[in-house]
Amino acid sequence: MIEACLFDLDGVVVDTAKYHFIAWKALAEELGFEFTHADNERLKGVSRMSSLEILLEIGGLKFSEQEKLAMAEKKNALYVSYIEKMTPEETLPGVKEFLQELRSKGIRIALGSASKNSPMILDRIQLTEMFDAIVDGNSISEAKPNPEVFLKGAEKLGVSPENCVVFEDAIAGIEAAQNANMYSVGIGDPVLLGFADLVIPGFDGFSVEKLVKELKAPFLFPPGGKA
Ligand code: BG6
Ligand code: MG
Repeated sequence: MIEACLFDLDGVVVDTAKYHFIAWKALAEELGFEFTHADNERLKGVSRMSSLEILLEIGGLKFSEQEKLAMAEKKNALYVSYIEKMTPEETLPGVKEFLQELRSKGIRIALGSASKNSPMILDRIQLTEMFDAIVDGNSISEAKPNPEVFLKGAEKLGVSPENCVVFEDAIAGIEAAQNANMYSVGIGDPVLLGFADLVIPGFDGFSVEKLVKELKAPFLFPPGGKA
């Protein structure tokens, strides 16, 4: 019986890929090479340091650990200068309504994100209070497709993994959900995410009723959900 929903942040709740792109592109330009939108696609769901490794591989450059840490810090400072100006209007369409509906029906909600900036983003879009548990890049040691982030989320909620649904936009994120023995809903392109239990374009027009119907899984709606 489904009792909880776990959400990735970047690409599911907010579109931060455009800010990551600007910041990584600035670093690439400083290092003297081009960084394209197609390159940026490869960084979705990937941790900050692994993203830097991919970027340097694209540029064919090698640096010491210390230099790489300084570069990641610089990229993050530019990224943060954008996300600290985010407003609730930047929440992707339908997300807030869907979270509210889940809450009202007594379904527990957790965040499962690789981003160390998750607390700031949730604060800026004023959604922190919607989550019963938050697991982010500050509290995990293994990157998706390792299931750690989602297993920790389920544990914090006190719900068994098989009673959880994960919402994810990245291939590695769907794999992490499957590795955690959870149901998965892909947000985006069915060609890429077709191996998830269900794929939807986004939350606009989506509802708990549609989720129950299309996932074909039994849900447990306890009486007295929170409004
Ligand atoms: C993921 C994003 O959610 O978080 C990645 O999809 C990003 O693109 C990763 O690199 C880490 O984010 P941050 O904010 O800790 O640099
Ligand atoms: Mg994502």
